[in-house]
Amino acid sequence: MNVFHGDTSILDYFNPDNLPPTPLVEIPLHPFKDDNVRIFAKLMQCLPMANVKSLPAYNMLLHSNLNHNNQAIDLSKIDTLIENSSGNTVFSLSIIGKLLGINNTKAIVSNEISPAKLKQLQFFDVNCIINDEPICPNPNDLNSGINIAKKLSSKHENYLNLNQYENDLNPSAHYKWTAPQIVRQLESLNLDLNLFACGLGTSGSLVGTSTYLKSCYNKLNNSNKNETKDPLFKTIGVVRLPNNPVPGPRTLNLLDSIKFNWNESCDSIQQIGTKDSYKHSLELCRKGILVGPSSGFTYKGLLNYLNEIKGNGQLKELQNLLKQDNKTVNCVFICCDQPFVYIDEYFKYLGKENFPKIENEYLLQKKQNLPIEMINRINDILADKKINLKPIDAYKIIYNKHKKCVNDDIIIFDIRDNKNFKELHILNSINIDIDNGNTNNPLIDTNVLQTEYNSLKLILQEFMQNNDLQGKKIFNICYSGNSSVISTTILIDNGIENVYNISGGFIEWSKENLPRWKSDNCILLTNTK
Ligand SMILES: Cc1ncc(COP(=O)(O)O)c(C=O)c1O
Repeated sequence: MNVFHGDTSILDYFNPDNLPPTPLVEIPLHPFKDDNVRIFAKLMQCLPMANVKSLPAYNMLLHSNLNHNNQAIDLSKIDTLIENSSGNTVFSLSIIGKLLGINNTKAIVSNEISPAKLKQLQFFDVNCIINDEPICPNPNDLNSGINIAKKLSSKHENYLNLNQYENDLNPSAHYKWTAPQIVRQLESLNLDLNLFACGLGTSGSLVGTSTYLKSCYNKLNNSNKNETKDPLFKTIGVVRLPNNPVPGPRTLNLLDSIKFNWNESCDSIQQIGTKDSYKHSLELCRKGILVGPSSGFTYKGLLNYLNEIKGNGQLKELQNLLKQDNKTVNCVFICCDQPFVYIDEYFKYLGKENFPKIENEYLLQKKQNLPIEMINRINDILADKKINLKPIDAYKIIYNKHKKCVNDDIIIFDIRDNKNFKELHILNSINIDIDNGNTNNPLIDTNVLQTEYNSLKLILQEFMQNNDLQGKKIFNICYSGNSSVISTTILIDNGIENVYNISGGFIEWSKENLPRWKSDNCILLTNTK
């Protein structure tokens, strides 16, 4: 019934032997659907500690007899676990450790770790020691986190370094649990497995799982000694492209130093980049498979492999060898963890076009108080005679007297409401309607100043992103020259040159009887409508 009770309830709950298998979920729509390919995601993030590395952590902590110096481990003498890990292994160790009475866990982590992951470790009471090294350390480097963890545990009798990079209980966790689950789950659908894809970090999950899977699906039984690879079952190891961060997996170069026999376990290696990983993870999440970037990475590795074998005819060859009637090629890829701790990275690596726009975003900014320096700055700009031009002086720059039109290099922002603007305005000006419903002078009422500043900043920053203002002369006008000094300040502070405020605003411009235009056709910038 999935009930765990009594003094050992939580440890019992972490024991995979007591749990149903983690879900194996088919991806209903994918690019190879019409090629008779079925793809299943093995959801290791559905484990109690929500990540693939919790299985080796559990296995190493409960079943290790010898430490890295080949000495017998007496857990009663241990009060501190120390491990090099980018996150999932060590926070899982910390939780299980406490259940076994080991209250301290230390992690040697790379200085490239993300702030959110660092907080996640602190959240789980892991004491982090930052080391200046890449996120995937080289075990052969004596100053790597892996060796620091070893050295510290040799120095302190009460420390235990389980060392996921060399401990056979890491791959064996997947041999014992992950792989048999996949076999039984596919059997329940009467399916064999043809392609298995897995990301490579310590390589524990690939080595452990594919060793077992090969023993089940390798139909050759070594009858043909020259044919070492089974044409009906292939494993795909997925690695990162160099300089493409994805939390968890390694690059091919960094795998060189890994002791487990990953090379023998992989029939193909696919290299995947950061953007593809995050994009495919986001797509899986939005389809209901809530998995992190490294799962999108492995999925994309599998898709690339399928593309490769479709292109060179091997997919057809494979299908011709299949015995079952429907001749589907069945694939499984491993999903490692959840997306939530990486949310900031999705925004960092994928363009904002991937996310819905926030409406009324300026209301969030309204809550922050405008600092007094900013009010002083606006007043300084207002006092600068080179920036604040009388309407007649502005007119002389704006208008080409001979052609009776506005010069090409002029941009005019008119900050009045759209109704008044349409009535009369300077030819070719752009209307910014901030519609704050308050007629108080922003230079006297700081609440109005605050609202206008935030709205104008948001509108102008978007305009500056989409238009090149350099080389132009920018004029700002409003009713009486108070709101326009705010937009003038914002533009100047964003590095725009040749920005002017029309003193006295449209009221003074009209009094001087300078040219005005009536038109319903206008460019309107607003964030309130
Ligand atoms: C989040 C995460 N952790 C760890 C790993 C590494 O797994 P292993 O150490 O078993 O190779 C991966 C691999 O893709 C991963 O995505």
